[in-house]
Amino acid sequence: MPADFEALLRRLERRKLERLEKDSELYKIMAGVFDHTTVMTLYYMIHRGVFDALYGAISTGKEANIFCAVDKQGNYVAIKIYRIATSDFKTMYRYLVGDPRFTSFGRDRRKIIYTWVSREFKNLQRAHKAGVPAPKPIDFDKNVLAMEFIGEDGIPYPRMKDSPPEDPEAAFEKLIDAVEKLYHDAELVHSDLSEYNILVGPEPVLIDFSMATDIANPMSDELLLRDLGNLVNYFRKLGVETPEPIELFSEIKGRSDVER
Ligand SMILES: Nc1ncnc2c1ncn2[C@@H]1O[C@H](COP(=O)(O)OP(=O)(O)O)[C@@H](O)[C@H]1O
Ligand SMILES: [Mg+2]
Repeated sequence: MPADFEALLRRLERRKLERLEKDSELYKIMAGVFDHTTVMTLYYMIHRGVFDALYGAISTGKEANIFCAVDKQGNYVAIKIYRIATSDFKTMYRYLVGDPRFTSFGRDRRKIIYTWVSREFKNLQRAHKAGVPAPKPIDFDKNVLAMEFIGEDGIPYPRMKDSPPEDPEAAFEKLIDAVEKLYHDAELVHSDLSEYNILVGPEPVLIDFSMATDIANPMSDELLLRDLGNLVNYFRKLGVETPEPIELFSEIKGRSDVER
């Protein structure tokens, strides 16, 4: 690790990230994960008031780490940080190619990851504007995305995988409504929808819009059908009597705007 990086991290700690100093495990995660640019990006975000202090790591995924942060008003904020070195940018590239919103992003690893993050942010904006239950996007820069924290007291709501909804019938209906709204009003297909990317609070909330793609993507039908298939499989195991995925697909696709 370069010396200036360590110095920067220490400066960050002293100024804003007080909690980091006290939590050596967190320090290790940060130092091991963040490159110089990422630390600077976080620093600028703190400067802009996006958040004020970074607390614990919530999740270490394949591509990204999620941290819980707090802003000056005491609101929790979720910070998703894509790792530059270990992200699967080749897969990212493949998924970006089909999305008509992004036509020029080169083949540079960093640029692909930055485009990926900007897409996730825009997806969240569109979903949120359409009234789909999803985290409200707050800010993004380079490989860092800040969004509304979905949980309570700094603890995220559990994933549907770990905590089945109390009323599965109602949850299933709400999720199909969300998929339909996402399709017609946000013109997006989530493309990675399953019990792993749904948090269960008082209502189910869709998260992880990194794969979500415009309905104009030639792959979008296939992806929509897969999302619906995942939901159907999960809820059938809970005993919910669901239509076939293809029926749900036809209903969503067939709904013309005139019928609304
Ligand atoms: N907005 C959020 N609020 C609270 N927790 C979140 C939020 N976004 C993600 N998480 C937590 O981080 C985990 C991984 O997030 P996700 O976006 O699915 O990343 P990955 O790409 O690693 O799958 C989630 O299962 C959830 O526990
Ligand atoms: Mg996920």
